[in-house]
Amino acid sequence: MKIGMDKIGFFTPPTYVDMVELAKVRDVDPNKYLIGIGQEKMSIASNNYDAVAMAANAAQAILTEEDKEQIDMILFATESGVDQSKSGATWVHDLVGIQPFVRSVELKQACYSATAGLQLAMGHIALHPESKVLLLASDIAKYGLNTGGEPTQGAGAVAILLSAEPRILEIEKESATYTEDIDDFWRPNYSELAFVDGKYSNEAYLNTLKASWGRYKDQQHANLSDFEALVFHVPYTKMGRKALQALEDEMTEEVTERFNTYYESAIRYNKTVGNIYTGSLYLSLLSLLEQADELPSDARIGLFSYGSGAVGEFFIGKVQAGYKDYLQTTAHEAQLNNRHKLSIEEYEDLLTHPVEVDEAGNASFTASEVISKEDFIFMAVREHRRQYGKMN
Ligand code: CAA
Repeated sequence: MKIGMDKIGFFTPPTYVDMVELAKVRDVDPNKYLIGIGQEKMSIASNNYDAVAMAANAAQAILTEEDKEQIDMILFATESGVDQSKSGATWVHDLVGIQPFVRSVELKQACYSATAGLQLAMGHIALHPESKVLLLASDIAKYGLNTGGEPTQGAGAVAILLSAEPRILEIEKESATYTEDIDDFWRPNYSELAFVDGKYSNEAYLNTLKASWGRYKDQQHANLSDFEALVFHVPYTKMGRKALQALEDEMTEEVTERFNTYYESAIRYNKTVGNIYTGSLYLSLLSLLEQADELPSDARIGLFSYGSGAVGEFFIGKVQAGYKDYLQTTAHEAQLNNRHKLSIEEYEDLLTHPVEVDEAGNASFTASEVISKEDFIFMAVREHRRQYGKMN
């Protein structure tokens, strides 16, 4: 039985910051952000686009009425959760209208949790081949103004429909996972912003890559030339280049050139969206599938998932014949191209004015004029209850 991705969609908020403009205001050489970090734009979420709203928007773009009847599990992967108890999955379940007999839960392990969700979905579908699983990966990367992490922020959500009839990517059951308790990046409950030991986090990422790939290689007697392309967790696009370089001594010249060429396609979306934490690997996969020329059917793609703290996994996706017909390339390109550029002042204002709930548990905030009527948004808080909907 094949199990894997039958559909994959993406949503990012309609506002972004231009990295050259940010560099100028921060008195940094723009090439540090453009080349050194490898980012051109970053999506910025206003208060109306929280992790739940973004995930609902990614989901509504891929689901048919038939899917909504067949989904029996919703896995909501995030490190930007909006409630300590209730899962984001329950709101999305209601907003997009999925049938009620569903298992709904939220998963957390920094940027790794969507991959945990993928593997849980694989096991579930193996037991229940008729079921479909909705996997959501939704996050807002926020380090704060004037921090080292500032140019590596971003916001967005990926929605993936998994089934036993995958038209896009079969996921192989063999993988290698690695866990190590470290403090490279974390966000305590009392902090809205992430803490990060930047240089150490880069090292931890590469060590985890080597450990996961090394384990996979030993157990499966694999070689990097087995793969058509590699796709990585992309916190900023230079990081994936560092990952490729770290493996270079195991590659022939031909394989190095092939991986580097595919990498350009695999970062096109990430370069203009920024870090979306647990969705970043899947945004890069989507970028590869949509922006590269059609990959040969049955081509194997090696994927590396990394979540600080830290957990890593190396696993394989196998491209399905005709997969391009099931992607929403034009809609995704339009979404990215039609965003509204924020001035640095507007961006700073957004980042320094999170939603404030009063003592009675109420909050309301103005919806910005760039919100589409098609989008689900976070609208208000009433007696501590979050209100979602679309603008009339
Ligand atoms: N032209 C071209 N390149 C330039 C340049 C210029 N004018 N000026 C600087 N550069 C280069 C530097 O040489 C450097 O290149 P290398 O990395 O290849 O050495 C690069 O730009 C970055 O410069 P610095 O090292 O001086 O940058 P920094 O100290 O400001 O920090 C960072 C960079 C550590 C990534 C920081 O942005 C950060 O902390 N980001 C958040 C953490 C992060 O994303 N970590 C990734 C691994 S952890 C993970 O993956 C989980 C997750 O999602 C968070």
